[in-house]
Amino acid sequence: MAIKKGIILAAGKATRLHPTSLAFGKQLMAIYDKPMIYYPLATLMAAGIRDVLIIVTPRDKPLFETLLGNGSQWGISISYAEQHKQDGIAGAFLIGEKFIGGDNCCLILGDNFFHGPGLDGILKKAGGAIDGARIFCCHVDEPSAYGVAVLDAAGKVTRLVEKPKELISNWCATGLYFYDNQACEIAKSLKPSARGELEITDLNIRYLEQGKLSAVTLDASYHWFDLGTHGNIHDASQFIRDHEKRTGKKIGCLDEVAYTNGLISREQLMENASKIGNPAYAEYIRNVAVEAA
Ligand code: DAU
Repeated sequence: MAIKKGIILAAGKATRLHPTSLAFGKQLMAIYDKPMIYYPLATLMAAGIRDVLIIVTPRDKPLFETLLGNGSQWGISISYAEQHKQDGIAGAFLIGEKFIGGDNCCLILGDNFFHGPGLDGILKKAGGAIDGARIFCCHVDEPSAYGVAVLDAAGKVTRLVEKPKELISNWCATGLYFYDNQACEIAKSLKPSARGELEITDLNIRYLEQGKLSAVTLDASYHWFDLGTHGNIHDASQFIRDHEKRTGKKIGCLDEVAYTNGLISREQLMENASKIGNPAYAEYIRNVAVEAA
């Protein structure tokens, strides 16, 4: 059964972005012409996910609700849950247990940006009939800040390490994960790491030990950014600006993603455009219907 539910984890402290993130969470900051949260939400929608839980801090919840509402303007359902203590990414499965119920689920970190050719199809395929867990790996120059996967010649994961001190592989495990229904039970059995967090890498290692962890490798034609530093925010904004200027096509425009995936009518698209005060952005949304005709 294809995955229809997705969680966006957007409750971190973002201390690396102080003082910019002192008053509100980084996922509300601009990445070129949209709030950061638009990009992971667009990724979930492109993967065919229609039911989204966003995990936020109590402080930021009203801001997210103002920004995204209940998702009906994009033909999806958005609900919110609060994380009171930033005790780890795998904690999303404790907070989200009721939301997930008996289903499979995707998790994406609220600061992860993905773009590349045919990514929608790759995501839809990866989220279909899952037995175990699936991670997405990108080859990066400096993997030590991330979860790192060692892959064998056949592309199978043989080892996973969170922020390894030594270079064991250049394959970074990005913040996008697909899980079968075991994830909540496994998360409950995890112990906090030395830094006091329930690590997503530990959860993935449990699947690896069961022989149920697979990896999708994204080659250099795909762009992935972890938007956790000012440098990466700048680089991603520059990339999006260049792309939009060169092609005239936006990345992460939720109205466009909703319309082109058949989630909203032309009338809804026009209504969405009418609520955007930025004339160029509103015109872009209106043109989506013209181009798709
Ligand atoms: O971006 C990919 C990397 O994300 C992976 O390669 C790592 O394996 C994974 O641990 C994670 O590493 P980071 O150091 O980037 O995680 P960070 O603490 O920045 O949290 C990532 C996102 O999750 C961010 O949007 C904040 C949110 N978060 C994090 C924690 C620990 C929460 O909402 N609550 C939390 O308790």
